[in-house]
Amino acid sequence: MDIPDPPFTPGHPPDPFSRPFPSHPAPRPAPSRPSRPAAAMAAVRDAASAGSAGSWSLQHLHLSLRVAFGGAAAAGRLRGTARLELRCARDDAGPLVLDAHPSLAVRRAGLLPGPGHPPEPPLTVESRPFASYGSALVVHLPRPPRAGQRISLEIDYEAGEGPGVCWLAPEQTAGKQKPYMYTQGQAVLNRSFFPCFDTPSVKCTYSATVQVPEGFTAVMSATKWEKQKDNTFIFEMSQPIPSYLIALAVGDIVSADIGPRSRVWAEPCLIEAAKKEYDGVIEEFLAVGEKLFGPYVWGRYDILFMPPSFPFGGMENPCLTFLTPCLLAGDRSLADVIIHEISHSWFGNLVTNATWGEFWLNEGFTMYAQRRISTQVYGSAYTCLEAATGRALLRQHMDSTGEDHPLNKLRVAIEPGVNPDDTYNETPYEKGYCFVSYLAHLVGDQSKFDAFLQAYVNRFKFQSITADDTLGFFLEYFPELKERGVDSIPGLEFDRWLNTPGWPPFLPDLSPGEQLMKPADELAELWAAEGLDMEAIEAVDVTGWRTYQLVYFLDQILQKSPLPGGNVERLSKMYPKISKAQNAELRLRWCQIILKNNLEAEYSKVKDFLHSQGKQKYTLPLYRAMWAGPEPARALAMETFSATAPQLHVNVQNYVKQILGLAGAEA
Ligand code: BES
Ligand code: ZN
Repeated sequence: MDIPDPPFTPGHPPDPFSRPFPSHPAPRPAPSRPSRPAAAMAAVRDAASAGSAGSWSLQHLHLSLRVAFGGAAAAGRLRGTARLELRCARDDAGPLVLDAHPSLAVRRAGLLPGPGHPPEPPLTVESRPFASYGSALVVHLPRPPRAGQRISLEIDYEAGEGPGVCWLAPEQTAGKQKPYMYTQGQAVLNRSFFPCFDTPSVKCTYSATVQVPEGFTAVMSATKWEKQKDNTFIFEMSQPIPSYLIALAVGDIVSADIGPRSRVWAEPCLIEAAKKEYDGVIEEFLAVGEKLFGPYVWGRYDILFMPPSFPFGGMENPCLTFLTPCLLAGDRSLADVIIHEISHSWFGNLVTNATWGEFWLNEGFTMYAQRRISTQVYGSAYTCLEAATGRALLRQHMDSTGEDHPLNKLRVAIEPGVNPDDTYNETPYEKGYCFVSYLAHLVGDQSKFDAFLQAYVNRFKFQSITADDTLGFFLEYFPELKERGVDSIPGLEFDRWLNTPGWPPFLPDLSPGEQLMKPADELAELWAAEGLDMEAIEAVDVTGWRTYQLVYFLDQILQKSPLPGGNVERLSKMYPKISKAQNAELRLRWCQIILKNNLEAEYSKVKDFLHSQGKQKYTLPLYRAMWAGPEPARALAMETFSATAPQLHVNVQNYVKQILGLAGAEA
């Protein structure tokens, strides 16, 4: 949210509040014009932030950190300083409040004195309770600031085992030799990494120096990366980004080039596989994305393969996507996740949801962009097949929550105290995709809609917006649609899309995928029959099926499960390509089928899969299925969780505890 600089008035008395910034490199590119009048923009309140962002404009953040790994079982520590360069936006700003976390220990806070001025005395800071997921850090300034005044606030602090900072023992890495640490900011976790305005409505540039122990490498989501002496790494992000996109990883990691502006980072034992899987493929995704949505503004696009406990398939940290190692499938079959994260370069990272209640703006547009790129690269048959698996996920989600669940609206009311991460589900992704597809359908011409998307990105780049901005711009861009009143067609009102839970009132046509889906549908029918027609089954040759065709087939089998007695056992024997698959998407579905059909003989596969990785979207459905099953399945859940809990991300741990009824007060 950018508020224009007030004119500089010379002749102020020397005052730390009004001195110019110390020189540092990060110029802030001016957005072409503000999206809304400043007064309206300040009105976007984020209930998930304790910060007083409405009264300040955060210009730049600098982190100066030292990373120390703990011995044996002890977690490590981040020690250092956060410097926030702030400009006061109003005369009645009140106290300066930042987001923080009980795990973050503030040692000292102070204002940086202007050049030639004596050191400023330390400031009083006070931590106040805010929510289960964070606290408020109140900074008492020596006198009330005036609008336009600038301060450089330095906070010396230590971050330990907060939810945003993950410390892994050597056994939890692929190489098992050295410890590892990484941060995961989205949605509200970075307040345990550094004190900040932890809301997506605020964007700033950042820079960092990170000192690591000998033999380690640090990487960040930054446009510049440089190694200096003393194991110190220097980073700079020259574009304004929200706090949740600042990310750091430190470990035994090395890199290999995979394209003109891309390299892959991974532990040494994975680097060959990582290079082989993605060498030469990323550039095409970027080039198609640029053609569709406009310039890629982030300079490099690198990827980092994380340790197996990383809770997401991918995280779109700018310049450096973090990825689960499950994507190293050996056959490039899971590249759609990378296309998804690349798509966030425009939708999410450039144009950002102003609050987590508008998360569908990030994910729904990204799903749409992902499938546009995929259509160009792989064709519409394959892309529609992939979209059909997405629709199946939405169906499963709505079946299990009930369509009318309030989280099945695109715009979610996140009340004070509610952790935005707890609202995570398929709706913003797949219902969001349907809504964007519906907008395209209203336009009726793909190239016109592509041009609209490009104009939309250009209009709102480097800003944080709400659905009202998006839809207002859509109607402005297509005045003939506005005139036709397309926002209020009965049953398809924009308001209904946003504010009424339920199955999408419009589904995009996925029939181009039918040539791939139909054989899978038919085969699933055959396997669901009471007496198996083995002749018909054997006549279908699945050896040439692509991964997503098998995934789609397994989704159909799962939907029809439990199958008549003995069928799944025969299916398992007939297709070792499925039942012995190493591909994580296939393993997930196979494990779900095992549980739904109560195939005790194959329980070990569920256990092995849950031991091998910690992705939330794989872990939770399997625990839900085990817990809904008979006693042996429940026992399997308990046994597996007690063995794997320490290696799961703390959020995932807590969600599993809730499923298993083990949740204490914290969950
Ligand atoms: N930004 C998300 C991951 C995320 C969402 C982290 C909310 C924390 C809170 C990322 O872009 C994502 O959607 N990843 C998906 C990829 C899939 C949809 C292709 C994932 O991890 O499964
Ligand atoms: Zn995403």
